[in-house]
Amino acid sequence: MTLATDDFLDIDDVTPAELDALLDRAAAMKAGETDPRLGDATLGMIFEKPSTRTRVSFETGMTRLGGHAMFLGPDDIQLGHGEPLKDTARVLGRYVDGVMARLFDHEDVEVLAEYADCPVINGLTDEAHPCQTLADLLTIRETVGEDATVAWVGDGNNVGQSFVVGAAMAGIDVRVATPADYGMDPAVFDRAAAFGADVTPTTDPEAVIDGADVVYTDVWISMGQEDVRGEKLAAFDGFQVNADLLAGTDATVMHCLPAHRGEEITDDVLESDRALVWDQAENRMHAQNALLVELLGGE
Ligand code: CP
Ligand code: NVA
Repeated sequence: MTLATDDFLDIDDVTPAELDALLDRAAAMKAGETDPRLGDATLGMIFEKPSTRTRVSFETGMTRLGGHAMFLGPDDIQLGHGEPLKDTARVLGRYVDGVMARLFDHEDVEVLAEYADCPVINGLTDEAHPCQTLADLLTIRETVGEDATVAWVGDGNNVGQSFVVGAAMAGIDVRVATPADYGMDPAVFDRAAAFGADVTPTTDPEAVIDGADVVYTDVWISMGQEDVRGEKLAAFDGFQVNADLLAGTDATVMHCLPAHRGEEITDDVLESDRALVWDQAENRMHAQNALLVELLGGE
């Protein structure tokens, strides 16, 4: 399989068939299958925001695939000191085989993709986190299976938005509850509808959890939103994934991490057998390794 797309900026840059094949490949690589195609490849990794999982999973993944990853933090390169993004993109594209970028504005990752003459992978923007979705779908496959019903309870930004579209592509039934002022971009539901999903968002966590196999949440205060912490904490009252909310269900729980214990999720839930979060985190690397060989590796 090679992918029709040159870049992976959001989950629906691949087709449902390609997504299915990527998840098959990820499972095989997790089981030990190797691929020699990235033997001398370098991945440039631009980070405007902090990261544990994305940085370490991509860097370790490239090492395991025989290639090399280069961390480019905001203080390390001229981008953080005024060099335009499009100039950075054009120069990086002359050296590296692929760029993975974690940025604030989604438009910036599109600029990178336009100007870099190599594949560009979105490692999280304010709007999307498609690499997380790959890992999430692999985790759901491994546990409840793709006939799952998943309830998204929490903020309607990057992780949730990519997940709703990806779940639709995988045939997973997804329900969404967010506070009224922190809903997903309506275009997300149109994109999900293009894959046959009929998602009507609500503001009622209990309603979406009823009968769900998996409850998925994310932080309430995303990176860069620290200045609106007070108003967001107030708006998310009632959205915490805790023992009360889960009472009467045997749903498993997903979280992209990092978790803010005591805000969107409680310590006891995160430490319980319900939590799939460590498998999700591990699966970042396996899912991304499959993506890397198919996007950067050629025939
Ligand atoms: N889930 C995720 O992207 O984690 P990091 O912010 O640690 O990369
Ligand atoms: N929504 C979170 C996800 C972190 C992986 C954020 O943007 O900070």
